[in-house]
Amino acid sequence: MAKEQWGSKLGVILAVAGSAIGLGNFLRFPVQAVNNGGGAFMIPYFAALILLGIPLMWIEWTIGRFGGGFGHSTAPGMFHTLWNKNRFIKYFGVIGIFGPVIIFIYYIYVESWLLGYSVFALVGKYNGCTTVETMKAFLEQYQGLKTGDYFGGLSTAYVYFLLTFAMNIWIIYRGVNKGIEVVCMYALPVLFILAGFLTIRVLTLGAPNPANPENNVVNGLGFLWNPDWSKLGESKTWLAAAGQIFFTLSVGFGIILTYASYLKKEDDVALSGLTAAVTNEVAEVIFGGSIVIPAAFAFFGAAQMLAVANGGSYNLGFVTMPLVLQQLPFGNFFGFAWFFLLFLAGITSSISMAQPAVAFLEDEFSISKPKASMIFAVVTFLLTQPCIFWIGRGVIDEIDFWGGTVCLVIFAFIETILFGWVFGMDKAWSELHVGSDITIPRVYRFIIKYVTPLFLLFILVSWFWSDLPAKLRMDGIAKPDKPYIQTTRVMLVGLFVILAYLVWRAWKHKPKGGTSNAS
Ligand code: PHE
Repeated sequence: MAKEQWGSKLGVILAVAGSAIGLGNFLRFPVQAVNNGGGAFMIPYFAALILLGIPLMWIEWTIGRFGGGFGHSTAPGMFHTLWNKNRFIKYFGVIGIFGPVIIFIYYIYVESWLLGYSVFALVGKYNGCTTVETMKAFLEQYQGLKTGDYFGGLSTAYVYFLLTFAMNIWIIYRGVNKGIEVVCMYALPVLFILAGFLTIRVLTLGAPNPANPENNVVNGLGFLWNPDWSKLGESKTWLAAAGQIFFTLSVGFGIILTYASYLKKEDDVALSGLTAAVTNEVAEVIFGGSIVIPAAFAFFGAAQMLAVANGGSYNLGFVTMPLVLQQLPFGNFFGFAWFFLLFLAGITSSISMAQPAVAFLEDEFSISKPKASMIFAVVTFLLTQPCIFWIGRGVIDEIDFWGGTVCLVIFAFIETILFGWVFGMDKAWSELHVGSDITIPRVYRFIIKYVTPLFLLFILVSWFWSDLPAKLRMDGIAKPDKPYIQTTRVMLVGLFVILAYLVWRAWKHKPKGGTSNAS
């Protein structure tokens, strides 16, 4: 099987940027900022960007391109190539397939709501909902959590889920170049236009309610950006910033390894990785910081906005924004722009979560693309069902904790050590600069070797100390929900074991030392 390749440099940058720009930029970031010191949050945020995010981008692009040269598109094969003397390292690579798959199974469901809401906005289906309570009821009925007049059960949500799921599988089936790259080439420009357009609309809102002139956009921006320096002393703020950087850049998951494996040996990685990261940051800090919070503040004021935001970061998107936008002239159209923008951001991220698993089957088992896509579809379809039917039981949060917190910190730590220590900084540095369009400042040799792994170790230890025991004990989970969470855990462990078994099988049949570098 000939190895797939990207069609152009712009194409791969847009694909990685497409993976990075997602719901995290527009919904998660502003809520994190508001809750962690406003403008002061930007200090740990940029520190994490410079010391974790950008180094990990470079590490993943470089390992990915390197591993691709040995015919591996996923972490087990790449880790084995970097450290072929170690028999176990490939099993750690399983995290780089497992993590993206488990995020995929809930992310795709949330993404399907966005498709549904895009249509509802256009046809005016939620127009009758004019208060937070009714808009919330609309969402809960859509999700099948409550019964009422808006939806007769889960069927509407299920239809949008099937549509979204089919689109994702279709793109993956079309392949890296004709599927992922083509979609990102169209979706990203449209996404930027819609985001720019909504930003301008929100920033020109003024004070929409004359009775409350202090609820205006300028104060909304102030509410988000005025620094609360006292938060900088709390380690929680620094952890939140690091978590946001990982999530938003899609680093530490294994996804960028896979995308970079489709590069050619001489393709630049240094400038491309940086460009993808900067594109994501523009979308996050400028657009993400200018839409949801100022709009919600101008219409609802601080207290009510915070009440909604604390009910979950998605609530601002699905409850507050449609309420705000429908009060504007051409409200249906603005509502559509908002939800469709998020849908595009979502689909360009979810296809990136699917690609590692499909690539793993293709590379390590020589399974054809159609067959690999089909296996992936059947397995993830089944795994998504608990997210749909048990949504009120906390299943999504549970999966997000393992996939979006635990896996990525462990995985990022392993990658960094493999790159800077096992492969060795001298070789790593020259590999990073092969075909490079820029020379990276030498201080990054020091950062990648010492600072990034120490920072990761600090996060690992603090999270594991403070969060893991309570999580394992299921503190804070209502008694009737516990069996659902336990079942979800069994499902996750089962998936991990199956993937590890597949790695074992794949290597059992490989000629010894067949795909290794000389180190
Ligand atoms: N980066 C995406 C966002 O900001 C989410 C994502 C996480 C994508 C993990 C891929 C992997 O929403």
